[in-house]
Amino acid sequence: MILEKNETFTVTEAMIPPQMSVTIDDAREAVRIFADLRMRYQGAIKEISTKLEVLDNEFSVKHDYNPIHHMTSRIKSVDSIFEKIKRKGWPMEMESVYKVMDFAGVRVICNYLEDIYRVEDSLLRQDDIKLLKRKDYIKNPKESGYRSLHLVIEVPIFLSDRTYHMPVEIQIRTVAMDTWASLEHELKYKRMEEMPEHVAQELKDCAKMMAELDDTMQSIHKML
Ligand code: GTP
Ligand code: MG
Repeated sequence: MILEKNETFTVTEAMIPPQMSVTIDDAREAVRIFADLRMRYQGAIKEISTKLEVLDNEFSVKHDYNPIHHMTSRIKSVDSIFEKIKRKGWPMEMESVYKVMDFAGVRVICNYLEDIYRVEDSLLRQDDIKLLKRKDYIKNPKESGYRSLHLVIEVPIFLSDRTYHMPVEIQIRTVAMDTWASLEHELKYKRMEEMPEHVAQELKDCAKMMAELDDTMQSIHKML
């Protein structure tokens, strides 16, 4: 249970399922820890989103053009954090929660291919941003055909008592890459069983067509 802004929440004995062997104090402590973590990660998302908006506005004023089409963000739910810890085979303890690098995620959808690297450079040039991990699935697409630039960066958030350095996963992609990823995700996760090989191949072919589309649109943009 994670609290939204201005919400108050009291953990009572009645809320603990009988099969769970936790004390009421443990349950209260867990809710408090997660509410605190979520607040810090939300702060980190706000910091990153503002930085990206400022860069997009600057580009628009200087070049009369916006590299960012739109942005979305999300905080991972408690359930998917524990699902990930289980999938990775990490021990079920708080230390593992702190190891989840995509607790906070920002997705940046760009108009053209070159905008992706332009946005990356401008963001990483900032003094308070530290790059922790980078995976370029555009130069090296995943087996599925998935393309995107993934960065895990660390951003400081300034609270009343101290400064925290929070990791945020940023996925930067074009509109075409995003269209493919959204549809493929929908097709994959709606069904329980493995995707048949010929369908997986069709999807890979689609990803290739999207990549060609990106190259062509980039060339057209350069011509004008
Ligand atoms: P995770 O534990 O899955 O986060 O592994 P990881 O840290 O190695 O992350 P990875 O770089 O594979 O990126 C994971 C995220 O990228 C997923 O949560 C998706 O948002 C996206 N992603 C990766 N592969 C695919 C794919 O084949 N299809 C789609 N639609 N999205 C993908
Ligand atoms: Mg992930």
